[in-house]
Amino acid sequence: MRVLFVSSEAYPLAKTGGLADVSAALPHALAELGVDVRLVLPGYPCAVDAAAHKIVEPELPRAAGADTTRLVRACMPDSGLPVWLVDCPTLFNRGGGLYQDDHGADWPDNAQRFAHFSAVAAQLARGKLVPDWQADLVHANDWHAGLLPILLGQAPEQRPASIFTIHNLAYQGLYPREILPLLALPDGIFTPDGIEFYGKVSFFKAGIRFSDHITTVSPSYAREILTPEFGCGLDGLLRHRMKSITGILNGVDYRVWNPTSDRCLPARFGVDDLSGKRICKADLQRELGLAVSQTIPLISWVSRITDQKMADVVFHALPAILERDVQLVMLGQGDPGLEVQLADAAQHYPGRLAVRIGFDEELAHRFHAGADLLLHPCRFEPCGLTPLYAMRYGTLPIVRQVGGLADTIIDAIEWSVRAGHATGFVFREPSASAMLDCLDRALAFYAQPVLLRKMQRRAMDREFGWDASARRYLALYRRLAPRAAPTDRDPDAGRRDASNLMVKGAQG
Ligand code: ADP
Ligand code: GLC
Repeated sequence: MRVLFVSSEAYPLAKTGGLADVSAALPHALAELGVDVRLVLPGYPCAVDAAAHKIVEPELPRAAGADTTRLVRACMPDSGLPVWLVDCPTLFNRGGGLYQDDHGADWPDNAQRFAHFSAVAAQLARGKLVPDWQADLVHANDWHAGLLPILLGQAPEQRPASIFTIHNLAYQGLYPREILPLLALPDGIFTPDGIEFYGKVSFFKAGIRFSDHITTVSPSYAREILTPEFGCGLDGLLRHRMKSITGILNGVDYRVWNPTSDRCLPARFGVDDLSGKRICKADLQRELGLAVSQTIPLISWVSRITDQKMADVVFHALPAILERDVQLVMLGQGDPGLEVQLADAAQHYPGRLAVRIGFDEELAHRFHAGADLLLHPCRFEPCGLTPLYAMRYGTLPIVRQVGGLADTIIDAIEWSVRAGHATGFVFREPSASAMLDCLDRALAFYAQPVLLRKMQRRAMDREFGWDASARRYLALYRRLAPRAAPTDRDPDAGRRDASNLMVKGAQG
């Protein structure tokens, strides 16, 4: 079973959010099951820098796209998994972020960037660029890879099966119709039954409409996106394709998110001995200029600063949150206006509120380890990896009952606490008052150390590893590409391929 996994980010090469975590961990878990899975990513400078054992291939024929493009054949630095980087300097070699400039404005050529990326990925999948490898199935992720099913369909005789995974329906890749001639798509595709979305070109609609199967990252979100409230205007089409949609919960990569081995922490700890967590708390308080105290509840917020994460609600609720006897630490980036407002707010609560604007992977680990509670309110949340990470570090999440959060966090109400099931605190309405009531419930728990300790233990022990979900993906792959070679008889095949490539790469 040969799978091309197409994503716009993968940790540690390039990351803005959970998509990067999934795009590193899921292929690794599939390789462990014997799948010959290879990643393809845009050749951002950070990705090229971080990739291991690089071999730059000759320039691609111009038919693959208008700009000079080379494939860089490499390996993931941690897992050794094979990765191809689409190195097209005019589209990907620039400063700023992956999708935006330094001021938070989307790159004006994003449509061309990801259309070209998808066109190269389609050729790779069909064996046109690398003669010894052809995909049985293409796994395309989010709008950046949405055009792939159409591009694969252009050569029906060599068409691999396709899965399109929805990580976040709110970012749709919507562009004016004038962009069409630049995308090299088949004629007649710009119709309401094709990729037109209210007069615009929709990359997301392309993925949903033309892929063989659609997955999303939790069972609850799979149901929610069928409704007008969560469907972002695509719920009608999604209902039409309902029989081809599966919700598969994301997993946690415990190679990366594990307090017993985490090198970002000043001290490590596990479920049986939390003394290291106390060191992490004191260290975080010192690092962020807060009063050092074990008794005061330390609440963290690690997030993109967006509407999705109710960042506006949290900002307006800051005075109310800090009326309570708590400390709050915030790490995030996103909405430029809110970034400034949050940073300013920190000046008004010295020693109680610390705000770090920016993206800092290591600090995120230290937040999870040092905090007691994670504040994670959301208007919608397809899966929500952050609370799963927090739980593993003994930090109890306060979340809204929505999307993947509804599938993963068990609220501390009387029965669940008595039965020893509770792992966090859950509220329903997307409002400041509901969030604050829930915070008060959490603080009441915090004041009862025996109960708190029990809940921490339960949260740390909850198993969200990738194995079960990777097996579900593999079962789907098998159904969609029945003629692909079996993997189960040779569970090490994927890993062996990866190390072969690594050896070749090292010999360069
Ligand atoms: P989403 O993908 O919607 O942002 P998830 O909770 O699924 O939400 O995943 C977010 C990922 O991004 C986590 O790995 C989290 O640690 C990381 N993250 C978010 N914001 C930051 C930040 N400012 N600095 C470092 N890591 C961050
Ligand atoms: C998206 C979602 C988040 C999910 C992540 C990985 O960014 O917002 O809920 O966990 O993708 O699938």
